[in-house]
Amino acid sequence: MVRDLREGLLAQPRRIPSKYFYDERGSQLFDEITRLPEYYPTRAERALLLRCARTIVGVAAPHTLVELGAGSADKTRILLDEMLRIAPADATYVPVDVSADFLAASAAQLRAEYPALTIRPVAADFSTHFSLSAHPSPALHVFLGSTIGNFTPDDAIRLVSSVRERMASTDFFLLGVDLRKDAALIERAYNDTRGVTARFNRNMLTVINDCLGADFDPSRFGHNAVYNTEHHRIEMRLISCGDQQVDIPGVGRLTFKAGEAILTEFSYKYDYDLAAELLSGSGLVLREWFTDDAGLFALALASR
Ligand code: SAH
Ligand code: AVI
Repeated sequence: MVRDLREGLLAQPRRIPSKYFYDERGSQLFDEITRLPEYYPTRAERALLLRCARTIVGVAAPHTLVELGAGSADKTRILLDEMLRIAPADATYVPVDVSADFLAASAAQLRAEYPALTIRPVAADFSTHFSLSAHPSPALHVFLGSTIGNFTPDDAIRLVSSVRERMASTDFFLLGVDLRKDAALIERAYNDTRGVTARFNRNMLTVINDCLGADFDPSRFGHNAVYNTEHHRIEMRLISCGDQQVDIPGVGRLTFKAGEAILTEFSYKYDYDLAAELLSGSGLVLREWFTDDAGLFALALASR
């Protein structure tokens, strides 16, 4: 964290990597976001999974589901139910997430719900090298929720390439992407009236206070999320409410001017071409493209 903050906060414009949203509280706030009326992506992806899970699992025939950024694994249950129908004896689920406490709680909950399923959680940062122990094959590697959108196109290729390296020749990869659409609809999803997204955004400062003993006052930073139509991405920032100084052990004493921004998240919106480019640039072949009638969200199924 100190290395990332030195790199991001001493640079101009200032930025903090979005993985630092997610301590247990951050994961809970994200879960709350998924239930907001304005936040359409989760509902759209769930509806799509309900419609396509049988086809996807029929094609991939997985005995293991490896999930990057699993979170509460709420929608994943749709795929797990299908996998258990075809691999009742050795069905295995490997959720990978950086939010270690939330991951452990979610794995415990799944064990209670799915006694026939072997669950092997891995607390890791999926953007760095991490190892997976041997698991029944073939595996379906899934990356849902449009979390890929939180990576720049170049970083996304690096990330999906690392998934490809872990894939056996019979494995499949399922990617969830939020699609380009009316900018106002997208912006509303990141500026909800109840202020949950604002709390999620500010929680990043609390995570840094808790981890490093920094003295950010989150209430002195405002939430800002705008859609950049040129780059097809939401840009989320924290804006300093006045001139202020913040002490971050290991990083230094920083001065923030009134109105100065910290970039906390990109959320790229995809179209078919960008998804196809990402997959081919990562050495994968796009096999099926599933989308809803309203064109809100898409699932791309790929293989090596
Ligand atoms: N897949 C779930 C959760 C999406 S939220 C859904 O579709 O609703 C993004 C998830 O990715 C969070 O659980 C967060 O903790 C995790 N995450 C974000 N960056 C990560 C990283 N670098 N390494 C591992 N997990 C990460
Ligand atoms: C996890 N990720 C895909 C969410 C998104 O929509 O980019 C995180 C989020 N940020 C604000 N609201 C939700």
